[in-house]
Amino acid sequence: MVPFPARPPNCRRALVDLASTVQRTRGGAVPKRPRVVVSVGASVDGKVALTRNALLMHQPNTDLWSSMTPEAPDSVAIDVIEVVRRQHGCNAILEGSGSLVAEDEIPDELPFYDGDADGLYNHFLPADVIEQQSPEHMWFTVVDSRGRVRWTERHQNWDALVLVARSTPADYLGYLRRERICYLVVGEERVELSRAVSAMATELGIRCILSTAGGGLNGALLRADLIDELHVTLAPALVGGLGTPSIMDGSPLAVGEPPTRLQLLSAQTDTAGAVRLHYAVRRS
Ligand SMILES: NC(=O)c1ccc[n+]([C@@H]2O[C@H](COP(=O)([O-])OP(=O)(O)OC[C@H]3O[C@@H](n4cnc5c(N)ncnc54)[C@H](OP(=O)(O)O)[C@@H]3O)[C@@H](O)[C@H]2O)c1
Repeated sequence: MVPFPARPPNCRRALVDLASTVQRTRGGAVPKRPRVVVSVGASVDGKVALTRNALLMHQPNTDLWSSMTPEAPDSVAIDVIEVVRRQHGCNAILEGSGSLVAEDEIPDELPFYDGDADGLYNHFLPADVIEQQSPEHMWFTVVDSRGRVRWTERHQNWDALVLVARSTPADYLGYLRRERICYLVVGEERVELSRAVSAMATELGIRCILSTAGGGLNGALLRADLIDELHVTLAPALVGGLGTPSIMDGSPLAVGEPPTRLQLLSAQTDTAGAVRLHYAVRRS
C-alpha cells in the first residue's frame, strides 16, 4: 500500500458531469484497457498484513512490518511507481478500501444528501481537476462501493479518483462532490472491475494502472483476468494465520479451473534475505 500523496486545493470552478458515453482520450482514439501491474510486499508465506483488520498504515503495524526486512547495502527494494511510470507510462495507483479502512471500523457519519440523488449517479469529473494536469500527474484510485473512505489529504500532482457503484450511498457521493473528488460509477451492486479499468482509460486517458492493494482487491483483479504483471518483494519472515490477507485472496478457483500461469521476468536477492520477483501473466 502506498500512502496517498495528497493534492493541492483545487480552484473552485464549474462542474462538468460527463456521461460514460463521452470518450475522453488524449489522442482522440479509444484506448484498449490499461495495463494492470500489481506490486505487493509479502512475508515468505505470502501474507501481506500482520492480521486481518491491522492496517499497515497504522502503528505499531507499520514498524512491525518494516522490521521484517532488515536494511541491506544491496537492498532489492525499488521504487515500483517510478519503474512502471518509465516502462508503461503508468499514471494511476489502485487501492482497495481495505488498505485505508479496517473492516471493523465505523467511518465518520456524513451529512444527509438532500438534493436530487439521481443526478449523483453519473461520473463526477470536474473540468478544473481533469484538465489541469502536469506530465507528472498521478491518480490515486480507490475501489469503494460502500463509501467508507474519508479524504483528508491533498498533495501536489496527485488527485483522488473513487470507483463507486449504483449501490453506493447518496450521502457519500454528495460528500465526494462537495470535496471535489472525482468518481466513476462503474457497477450495480459493487464495482465491476473490468468496466472500471476501461472507464479509467476512456474517461481519463489512463494508460497503465499500478495496483498496490491487499489480497481482496488483487484477488478480484485476478479472477477478472485483469492482471498483466506482478512485482512481489518477499521479506525474510513468516506471519502465518488463517484469514490474514495474502497476496491474492478473493473467491477460490472453481473445480477444474486452471491456475493463472506466470513467466518469470527477473529475480533478485539481497544479503538481508529479501527476494524481489517480477512476473508477467501468461495468457497463451
Ligand atoms: N503488503 C502490502 O503490499 C499491502 C498492500 C496493500 C494493503 N496491505 C494490507 O492488506 C490489508 C488489506 O487487504 P484486504 O484484502 O483486507 O483489502 P483490499 O485488498 O483493499 O480488498 C478489499 C477491496 O477490494 C474490493 N473488492 C473485493 N472483492 C471485489 C470484487 N469481487 N469486485 C469488486 N471489488 C472487490 C472491495 O470493494 P468495496 O470497498 O467496494 O467493498 C474493497 O475495496 C490491510 O491490512 C493493508 O494494510 C498490504
